[in-house]
Amino acid sequence: MSDKTRIAVLASGRGSNFVSIADAIKRDEINAEIVLLICNKPDAGAIDAARFRGIEVKILQSKGVPAPEYDEKLVQVLKSCNPDLIVLAGYMKIVGKQIIDAFPMKIINIHPALLPSFPGLDAQKQAFDYGVKVTGCTVHFVDEGVDTGPVILQKSVLVDDDDTAETLSKRILAEEHRLYPEAIRLFSEGKLKIEGRRVIIERS
Ligand code: GRF
Repeated sequence: MSDKTRIAVLASGRGSNFVSIADAIKRDEINAEIVLLICNKPDAGAIDAARFRGIEVKILQSKGVPAPEYDEKLVQVLKSCNPDLIVLAGYMKIVGKQIIDAFPMKIINIHPALLPSFPGLDAQKQAFDYGVKVTGCTVHFVDEGVDTGPVILQKSVLVDDDDTAETLSKRILAEEHRLYPEAIRLFSEGKLKIEGRRVIIERS
C-alpha cells in the first residue's frame, strides 16, 4: 500500500491508546491517517484528544439504542469515511455481526491480557486475582466472539510479588502503547497474512 491507510477509531473512554496511535502517525512511524474518531459516549476522554489534534470526531450515542439499530447507523458512518482499517481503542461495546460482515478482517482490537486467557472485562484484575506470573496484552482481529479473533501481536509483562492490580495495569498499558502502533504499522504495510486462525507476519 503506497497511499496512506485510512483509519477509523472507535473508543468509549480515556483514549490513551488512541493518543499513542495518533502520535505514532504524527511521528511518521505509520503511513496512515486517522480519518474519524467515533465515540459512543459523549464524555469519552478520546474526544478532546482528537479535537486537540484536529481529528474529526463523531459522537454516536449508544445509550438506550437497541444494538441492531445502533450497529446499522455505525456501519453507515463507517462506510461514509471509507476506512481501510477500523481500530477499537477501549471501545466498550460488542461489535455486532452486521459490522463484522461489512468490514471482514479490517477490524482490530487490543486486549490487556495474553489471549485466550482472561477475555472480557477487567482482564488485568482477572489475571492478577488468578495469580499468574506472566500476563500482557494482545492485538487481534475482531470476529464475532468476545476477544476470540486471530492474534496479530502479543507482548508479555511479568507480575511482580509487590504488584497490585493497578500497578500491573499501568505496566501493561505502557506496553499497549507500543504494541498497538506496531500492529497498525504492519497492517498498513500489507505485512499481515491470515492463514486460518494464524496471522503470519512478513518480516523484511
Ligand atoms: C485498554 O486497557 C485496552 O486494552 C482495553 O481498554 C483500555 C482502553 O484504554 N481494550 P484507553 O481508553 O485506550 O486509555
